[in-house]
Amino acid sequence: NWKMFGGLNSLNSLNKVLKFFKTFKKNKFTKIVYCPPNTLIQAMSKKLANSQIKVGAQNCHAADNYGAFTGSVNSFMLKNVGAQYVIIGHSENREIGETDKIINLKIKSALKCGLKIIFCIGETLQERKKKITKKVLNKQISLGLSKIKDNKNVLIAYEPIWSIGTGKIPSSQELTKTTSFIKKTLKNIFRSKSPPVLYGGSVDGNSVKLFKKIREIDGFLVGGASKSSKKFIDIIRNYYR
Ligand code: 13P
Repeated sequence: NWKMFGGLNSLNSLNKVLKFFKTFKKNKFTKIVYCPPNTLIQAMSKKLANSQIKVGAQNCHAADNYGAFTGSVNSFMLKNVGAQYVIIGHSENREIGETDKIINLKIKSALKCGLKIIFCIGETLQERKKKITKKVLNKQISLGLSKIKDNKNVLIAYEPIWSIGTGKIPSSQELTKTTSFIKKTLKNIFRSKSPPVLYGGSVDGNSVKLFKKIREIDGFLVGGASKSSKKFIDIIRNYYR
């Protein structure tokens, strides 16, 4: 997740990643998705067309059709320029007014057009201190995924808000507990296997060494470190080391 960073020249940072990935022994088991700003989706998709690396967007409008929504882009438009994934419900958007209800509509629309969704959930520091993390996550999951039956294009990203961009990470014990709870909740909702659960929040080459030991974590949503080819490659290398 590049967030609101990068211009056309930032695409050069993919060269090293592409080169590394081509000869990387575990590349068949590794799925990489870059989510750049909308302005770079098309150019990035073209650049990555002959690779295993996919492209996603960072948000979408909830409407299925075109409409008078100045400044917005819907999931169909994102797919049209090469996105195969879309992040929905990121805390940075929840913070500026995105509600569980809107998130649910966005998820429905994105799934309908065939995008895979990366649905973000997570508690604030205050909620963690009040020990209501489970309650908060349960609400975000059940409202966000309300009336969604098919989980095959769904990925969940657990991102504790206090861990985003701060270098602070949950203890292994805490993370094991929380991710197990998330998977249990998802299993109940879908009445089948839980979709993959990613962890996000200060993931880098170092912290990944701890995270990889947690069985419930199926992957990562990387912010800051995804913009540097070196840092990003470090994460992949250290995960398998
Ligand atoms: P950082 O990896 O920079 O903490 O960001 C996490 C994030 O918000 C990814 O969506």
